Amino acid sequence: MRILQVSAELFPLLKTGGLADVAGALPVALMAAGQDARVLLPGFPAILAGLRELAPVTEFAAPWGERFALRMGHVPVDGAPAIPAYVIDAPALYDRPGNPYEDTSRQPYADNHRRFALLGWAAAQLAQGLDPAWQPEIVHSHDWHAAMAPAYMAFAPQNGGPRAGSVFTVHNLAYQGLFAPWHFAGLGLPDAAFHFDGLEYHGQLSFMKGGLFYADRLTTVSPTYAREIQTPEQGCGLDGLLRRRSDVLGGILNAVDDKVWNPGSDAALVQGFHTPEGRHMAGKARCKAVLQHQLGLSERADAPLFILVSRLTEQKGLHLVLDGLDALLAQGGQLALLGSGEAWLEAAFRARAAAAPQSVSVTIGYDETLAHRLFGGGDVTLVPSLFEPCGLTQMYGLKYGSLPLVRRVGGLADTVVDCTLEDMASGDATGFVFDRFEAADYHRALRRAFALYQRAPDWRRVRGNAMRRPADWAAAAADYIEVYRKALA
Ligand code: ADP
Ligand code: GLC
Repeated sequence: MRILQVSAELFPLLKTGGLADVAGALPVALMAAGQDARVLLPGFPAILAGLRELAPVTEFAAPWGERFALRMGHVPVDGAPAIPAYVIDAPALYDRPGNPYEDTSRQPYADNHRRFALLGWAAAQLAQGLDPAWQPEIVHSHDWHAAMAPAYMAFAPQNGGPRAGSVFTVHNLAYQGLFAPWHFAGLGLPDAAFHFDGLEYHGQLSFMKGGLFYADRLTTVSPTYAREIQTPEQGCGLDGLLRRRSDVLGGILNAVDDKVWNPGSDAALVQGFHTPEGRHMAGKARCKAVLQHQLGLSERADAPLFILVSRLTEQKGLHLVLDGLDALLAQGGQLALLGSGEAWLEAAFRARAAAAPQSVSVTIGYDETLAHRLFGGGDVTLVPSLFEPCGLTQMYGLKYGSLPLVRRVGGLADTVVDCTLEDMASGDATGFVFDRFEAADYHRALRRAFALYQRAPDWRRVRGNAMRRPADWAAAAADYIEVYRKALA
């Protein structure tokens, strides 16, 4: 099958969160499964700079008349064939300071409706034969940034050939791409599309609805989140539409890219480790000691090291971590955090590190290498999210033997098994899970982690379970291929 993946980020070229990890790993897994996969990306400077063998393909006109160049290059991949990548070369839209979506003061760019409509538009043009050398049979778009592709495809003129299938994946329903209604007129869709049964959402223009309403098939990144978003509590106002489309909606759990996240071969670690049956773990102790030293924490092997690698936003449940920090320290634990985001959270964590520098380390910013070292040296990975479509950091925690402590929600519920006596006996337990989004529940999970840490043989056994657990992308790719077949039928 010829499959076009459409996303705004892709690891290793450009990443603000887990979307990039998925966008980088899925095409490689599809190609390994024998599929003819390509990606389409906006020409952000980091993307243009990272692509190899860039060459012009053609030019095309945006719905508002401006002309842009479509180029083609390759994303280099370690140990696998490079990913063929189309890129929209539009410096006026994409060559800006700040992150892909916001300026340096964290304000969304005023023309985001055009910047990301163009991404969907170019995808639909490719489905209509913009590149005569390669025409996708499936267009698979990710999150609101690419969500206009299915809408444009639904209204595209039929050129006699077979119609491409559209698949839309929700990575996070909380970010919807909402714009003022007057922006609709310039985007090249018929008036009929600005409708409750279409792109209209409480009087606004919703890019997310472009995907949810018009795509042939919908997926999200875990089975539990697929159910949760059909409820008013977690549906972000779109649960009615999602219930209506439940027959074409499913959850496919994200996986771990073994080429990037593998404690046995990770170049960021001072010493690798792996575990058939919890052995060969000396490297982990060394990683922890070196990490403590590097971060200025007291170098105590016996102090459980809790780590957190995260966007600092409400979603991630960080006030539970702040509220519970005294309890964590009182029980002899240490905390090492790497993250960036909301100013008040950055300031609050910084203040806690300043007050107890030998037990709390806070690094504000984005640092891929440090992220790997935290998973490598940590004992417990904290992910107490309010909601979590899938979550990748708990899976990296599993794989690196840094046991996840998570709330039972979304993909966290699907990937971590609590240390109950029965699940420890059966060899299923992999971490610590709490239910209600409340300090008392979080505290009990912390106490469970400390209690297990005191019982070294049990800790090693659970850690062994955890490290064997996360699946790689082959299984998820097979599930997506099944969805593509249904979209074509
Ligand atoms: P989300 O996509 O909601 O942010 P995920 O857990 O799915 O959450 O993915 C987060 C990804 O971003 C992981 O690969 C994680 O390691 C990475 N990450 C988050 N914050 C940072 C940071 N400050 N520095 C380096 N990597 C980070
Ligand atoms: C989103 C979600 C996260 C998920 C990631 C990749 O950013 O917040 O839970 O793991 O997308 O699918």
